[in-house]
Amino acid sequence: MEKKFFDKIIHGGDYNPDQWIDTPEIWDEDMRLMKLANINSATVGIFSWSMIEPEEGVYNFGWLDTMMDKMHENGISVILATPSGARPAWLSQKYPEVLRVEETGIRNEYGVRHNHCLTSPVYREKVRNINRILAERYKDHPALKMWHISNEYGGECHCEKCQEAYRDWLKEYYNNDIDALNRSWWNGFWSHRLNDWSQINSPKFRGENHVTAMKLTWNRFVSDSHISFYENEIAPLREITPDIPITTNLMRMYGGIDYQKFAKKLDLVSWDNYPGWDRGDNDWQAVETAFVHDTFRSMKNGQPFFMMESTPSQVNWHDINKLPRAEMQNLSSIQAVAHGADSVQYFQWRKGRGGHEKFHGAVVDHCGHENTRVFKGISKLGSVLSKLDKVVGKYSTAKVAVIYDWENSWAVKHFCGYNNLRRDYLQECIKWYKPFYERGITVDIIAMDADYSGYDLIIAPFLYMLKDKTADRIESYIASGGNFVASYLFAMVDKDDLCFLGGFPAGNLKEVFGVWNEETDALPADIKNKVSAFGKEYDVDHVCDIIHSTGATVLGTYQKDFYKGEPSLTCNSYGKGKAWYVAFRNDDDFADDFCRKLITEIDIKPDTGIITEKDVFVRKRGDTVFVMNFSDSDTGVLLDKEYTDIVNGVTLSGEVTLPVCSYLILE
Ligand code: GLA
Ligand code: ZN
Repeated sequence: MEKKFFDKIIHGGDYNPDQWIDTPEIWDEDMRLMKLANINSATVGIFSWSMIEPEEGVYNFGWLDTMMDKMHENGISVILATPSGARPAWLSQKYPEVLRVEETGIRNEYGVRHNHCLTSPVYREKVRNINRILAERYKDHPALKMWHISNEYGGECHCEKCQEAYRDWLKEYYNNDIDALNRSWWNGFWSHRLNDWSQINSPKFRGENHVTAMKLTWNRFVSDSHISFYENEIAPLREITPDIPITTNLMRMYGGIDYQKFAKKLDLVSWDNYPGWDRGDNDWQAVETAFVHDTFRSMKNGQPFFMMESTPSQVNWHDINKLPRAEMQNLSSIQAVAHGADSVQYFQWRKGRGGHEKFHGAVVDHCGHENTRVFKGISKLGSVLSKLDKVVGKYSTAKVAVIYDWENSWAVKHFCGYNNLRRDYLQECIKWYKPFYERGITVDIIAMDADYSGYDLIIAPFLYMLKDKTADRIESYIASGGNFVASYLFAMVDKDDLCFLGGFPAGNLKEVFGVWNEETDALPADIKNKVSAFGKEYDVDHVCDIIHSTGATVLGTYQKDFYKGEPSLTCNSYGKGKAWYVAFRNDDDFADDFCRKLITEIDIKPDTGIITEKDVFVRKRGDTVFVMNFSDSDTGVLLDKEYTDIVNGVTLSGEVTLPVCSYLILE
C-alpha cells in the first residue's frame, strides 16, 4: 500500500526566522546553508504569535511573507505552524482565563509555553481567529505544503471552566444518570455516593484521588479536550485550505492524550524523537525507539508518519547532554525512515542566541558557518535521503502485533494492589516486541480495539483492562484460527475498572484460555520464584498469577512456595486457534526463548532472508531493505541474495561488513 503527501523524503525542521528579525542577512545565509545541507523543508511559525499579532487585532505578516517567498524561491517547502503553543503577553493579560490552572487550584501566570486552558472559549476563539487569518493569507502560496498544529499538546487544566466541562462530559458519558456514575465508580465504598453532578471536581491531591474509575474518566476527558481543542484549531484550515494535510507533533508515548484515538483525526501522525544515543546502551535505545516508530506507524494502519523533530546533535534537557557521533545521528534518522517515516526533521535549524534552548543542538551552530561536524553530517544524510524517493509513501505490513493500549496504560497506572512498585506496562510491551525486531520480523503496535484479522500472532502483555467487546473480539480471533498470548493480570476489569465477577480472566476467556486465575502473588525484589519451562528455569520477577488449568496444556510450572507445581505457562486450543497464558513476569530471557518457539510453531517468516548478528536490525519497507548496525562494533552481515546498495550504487552479495553505527539501504 502507499499514501504520499510528498514525492520525496522531507528533510528539514523547526526554523525560527522571527528570532532573527533584526538581521535579515541571516535569512539569506539560511537559504544558502539550507541548500548546502540538502534541506528541502522548513517548519515555521511554531511560536510566532507575538510576531504576527503584536497587539490584539494588529497583524504583522511582513517578515513571514518575505520568508515564505524566499523559501519558495529556494525550493524549500514550508510546513506552517499555528501558533497556539505559546501566547503573546497581551492575550494573557487581557484575558486571564486563557491561562492554565494547576491541580493546586492556582492559576499560572503568563510565561513559558503550553500553558493554556483547554476549555476557555476566549482562547479557542482567539486561536481560530489567528488560524483563519494565516490560512487566508497563505492559502495560495506555493510554498505551503502542510499544517503543523500548535506544538506538543499536553498537560491539563483545573480551572472552573474545565471542571464544568468535565461535569458535562460525565453527563454525556453516563447518559445524564448520576446513579450510573455511582455504580461505575463503585461509590458505595467510603460513602462516596453522589446525588448531583455539581459535587464532582477534577481529581486532586487534596481532594478525590482514590476512585480509579473517576481517574480514568478524567484521563479520557482531558484527552478528549485536547482533541476537541485540535478540532477547533483546524476548523478554519479545513475550510480554507481543504487540500493541505494537517498534523501535530506528538510526544513519544506521552500518556496524557490517547494518541491512538487522536491519530484518527490527523491526516498523518508525526512525533518528536529524542533517544539518548551514545550513552552505553544504543542497543536498547534502538529497540525502544523502533517500538515507538512502529506504534506511530500502526496508529493509521501502517500509513507513513513524520519524524517532526529530532536533534542534529545533543539536546539541552537531559541531565547530562552527551554528543552523539554524526554516524549515530544519521543512523537514528535512517531508522525512522526504515520504520515508516517520510521525513527526517530537526529541532532546530539554527541555534538562537538567547533563551532556554540556546545550547540545544541545531544544524547551524553559533559559529554560523557550514564547517562543522554536525552540519557536514546532516548534509551527508540529506544526500542519502534524496536517493530514497521510492520509499516515500510505502507501508510495511506485519503478521505479528503487540497490544499497547493507551487506556489500559491509564488503568494499569491507577489500580492499587499486588505489586505497586513495578508496573512498567510500556517496558513490558517493548520486552515482547524485541524478540521479533531482533529477528527481522515487522510488528504492529495496536490498541485493543484495532482490527485483529490480518495477524498470525497477537501478544497482549499485561492487558489488565478490557474495553467493551474486547473479550468477544479476542475469542473470535482465536476461534477463527488466531494465535493469542496473554500475560499476567489479564482481563481483570472492565473499562470503568470494575472487576469482572466469576473468576479471571473475564467471562468466556476462561474457557478460551483453558485456565482460571485464582490469585496473584506479588514478589519483593529480593524474593524470586522460579518457573520451569522448555527444560530451563526462569526467574519470576515481581508478579505471578496462580492459575489452574481447566483444559489447557501446561508448558511450565512454578518451582517454589505453596503454589509449587501449579501451572505458570499454558496453551489451549480453541476453535481453530491457540491461546497461551504466561502467568508470570520474567525480566530476563524468557520472552526471547518463548517467542523463538512461537515463531517456529506458527511459522512466522522474517521480512528478508538476511542474517545478522546481535543488535543489527533489518527492516523492509516496500521493496527497500534497511540493515542497521546499532551494536558497538563492526559486524558481519550475510546477504541472502544479490542486492543493489542504493546509496553507493554498487552490487552486494554474500558476507558484508557493516562498520559500527552504519547502515545499508538495499534493493
Ligand atoms: C520539544 C519541542 C521543541 C523543543 C524540543 C527540544 O520537542 O517541541 O520546541 O523544545 O523539544 O528538544
Ligand atoms: Zn481550564
